[in-house]
Amino acid sequence: MVISAETRARIDLEIAKYPKRRGALLPTLHLVQEELGHISLDTAKEVAEIFAIAPVEVMEVVTFYNMFFDRPQGRHHVYVCTNLPCSLRGARGLLRELEKHLGVQTGETTPDGRITLGHEECLGACAYAPMMRIDGKYHEDLDVDEAKRIVDALR
Ligand code: FES
Repeated sequence: MVISAETRARIDLEIAKYPKRRGALLPTLHLVQEELGHISLDTAKEVAEIFAIAPVEVMEVVTFYNMFFDRPQGRHHVYVCTNLPCSLRGARGLLRELEKHLGVQTGETTPDGRITLGHEECLGACAYAPMMRIDGKYHEDLDVDEAKRIVDALR
């Protein structure tokens, strides 16, 4: 068993809120990720047992939403917005520069576990493009040097 008894009890409370058990799948995945940091295939199998569904159905949900992770994550999430307005203001080039600077591709985590680099769709800050979100905080009107300075300050 990967999921703790405490989290399992919280899952049961969530299940009780829904007329159909499966309605509690998303809150369950939030709880599981809160405990374990990501949702591996082994964890998905355990969740699938709770809901009497196939593990692939759990992984379909995990991989559909970008708030769920199917692999270990870095201590910091750096997400560059690459939607059209940000891209028109250089976001894709900025992301490529951060990939080179950090030595990882988008979607990967630095070997020291410090940063997971990703991209996102529009975050509603187009007027301040290009921008990135780090651990929930927006950094706007970026250029490459400023973006590198910001990620270098992350510990
Ligand atoms: S396109 Fe980047 S914030 Fe809207």
